[in-house]
Amino acid sequence: MAAPHFLVVDPAHYEIAYAINPWMHPTDWSANPEAHRRAARQSFNDLTAALRGLGATLEILPGTPGAPDLVFPANAAVVLDGRALLARFLNPERQTEEPIFHQAFLNLQSRGLLREVALLPEGAIQEGAGDCIWDATRQHFWAGHGPRSNPEGITAVAQFFHQEIVPLELATPEFYHLDTCFSVLPAGEILYYPTAFTPQSRAEILNRVPSDQLIEATKEDANRFCVNMVCIANQIIMAQAAPSLPDRLTQRGYKVTEINLDPFIRSGGAAFCMTLRLDRASTPTG
Ligand code: ARG
Repeated sequence: MAAPHFLVVDPAHYEIAYAINPWMHPTDWSANPEAHRRAARQSFNDLTAALRGLGATLEILPGTPGAPDLVFPANAAVVLDGRALLARFLNPERQTEEPIFHQAFLNLQSRGLLREVALLPEGAIQEGAGDCIWDATRQHFWAGHGPRSNPEGITAVAQFFHQEIVPLELATPEFYHLDTCFSVLPAGEILYYPTAFTPQSRAEILNRVPSDQLIEATKEDANRFCVNMVCIANQIIMAQAAPSLPDRLTQRGYKVTEINLDPFIRSGGAAFCMTLRLDRASTPTG
């Protein structure tokens, strides 16, 4: 199997400078910015070391002053089969990232790492893989909407990729992106935090996923951003968990690595959002 390929962004300019979700408290950050930035560097180093330890190849994009949330490239685009559909953000604070990611993706394309880079149509808001997760087992996307991405964004993804897409409406401000409360594990299990979804979306999940493949995250698992995980084969990288979640995943044959990602949880993100898989294929080869 070729090495899994991820985009990550250097945290040199990471900070909490504004609040666009309930986790973000700029005054806590500005009370001791140096210590927070050092801690963020340490977390980033630990995450990238863990990814490399599992055989991943990393593209490291430099940070940009004034675009602190660039460190969450899961929000840059939806990527499948070498085709990238660039995100459009809801909040002006993050719209500054759009031209930066656009240029970065054109560079990836010119190096032959992507075949196509496209923009969303007017009116569509879609915050990338953070709100649109490919399910290789069921051969469709699951797409979050409500707090950030809008239904037009979901339609645009379906049309661009010619793939089925199952919309899931998110019901809380805390779990504003699908990847904060929903993940697809390599053997097809779904780990999700039911409270984050509207009753209708919960019913949709229950309809499509057999009960033995559904794993419910607790409030604590979700608050610790452990649902926001990266999977490579049977290995899982996540933020520091309450013991029961790694135990439950281990019983299913996964090996869990926990990393202190607290500096990024302060912004409302963890392992999944800090990465973007560039070589995701609709039909995995191994
Ligand atoms: N502060 C960022 C925001 O609110 C965090 C994004 C985390 N990314 C994610 N895919 N959940 O947009």
